[in-house]
Amino acid sequence: MSRQLATSADQVHSRCIPDGLDLSKLPGHLAVIMDGNGRWAKARGLPRVMGHRAGVEALKSTLRLCNDLGIRALTAYAFSTENWSRPGEEVNFLMTLFERVLQRELHALESEQVRIRFLGDLEDLPLRLQTLIADAMRRTADNRGIHFNVCTNYGGRRELVRASRRLAERVALGELEVSQIDENTLAAELYTVGELDPDLLIRTSGERRISNFLLWQLAYAEIHVTDVFWPDFGADALFSALLDYQSRCRRFGGLDGVTPDALGS
Ligand code: FPP
Repeated sequence: MSRQLATSADQVHSRCIPDGLDLSKLPGHLAVIMDGNGRWAKARGLPRVMGHRAGVEALKSTLRLCNDLGIRALTAYAFSTENWSRPGEEVNFLMTLFERVLQRELHALESEQVRIRFLGDLEDLPLRLQTLIADAMRRTADNRGIHFNVCTNYGGRRELVRASRRLAERVALGELEVSQIDENTLAAELYTVGELDPDLLIRTSGERRISNFLLWQLAYAEIHVTDVFWPDFGADALFSALLDYQSRCRRFGGLDGVTPDALGS
């Protein structure tokens, strides 16, 4: 038995959701490490970059499904500060892919009320991509649907160094006392400012690492690892992850367990 997902007007992504899934206990913020694109392509005798192209489709359908489900934020790891060390051809392909996807999808993102933000050291990206990113962020800034964060040239350690420097600058300028530095002031200097921390991290392709992703923000996230390669990550894989999340007892360092519904997410 399954239920039909209640969808808004123009939803083409409505799905049958599993009976066990409680729509009132979904994670408010979902983070994904989209891994396995290269292996997906290799398994099909295709060049690695075809895996990235297929990965975009998986990301689009995940975003739409999350939006349909009422999940408030989706943060995806698209390009790490370490990914520059890949062959130049692959890096160039990815930069061009980001540009094309933005050009092609911006209109749909706008009409679906998605608010898109790119998080990372954007000034190192090709200028044309920077312009497209700035335009997309500006045009969707007031949208009221899901917050879609694309971590691009992002590294968790670098983000923490950047935040520390900013706090040090504010102290040097006399704007802030050292004693005022706490978790809130530090979090306010992160790229994710204004976003609640992720409740659930999904990593595909069976790898069990954080890989420098959202080091601060994932402090209390539940982690779901699936063997599925990212391009094959569809509704069933997402529902499995959500069911797994709902089976967890979140303690946040205390002794009394908190089930996801008690968090109001
Ligand atoms: C990791 O797989 C994936 C990436 C480094 C790129 C992911 C990017 C996308 C799916 C494009 C997103 C586009 C936009 C505009 C948001 P891998 O290559 O490391 O896979 P492997 O471990 O099998 O080699």
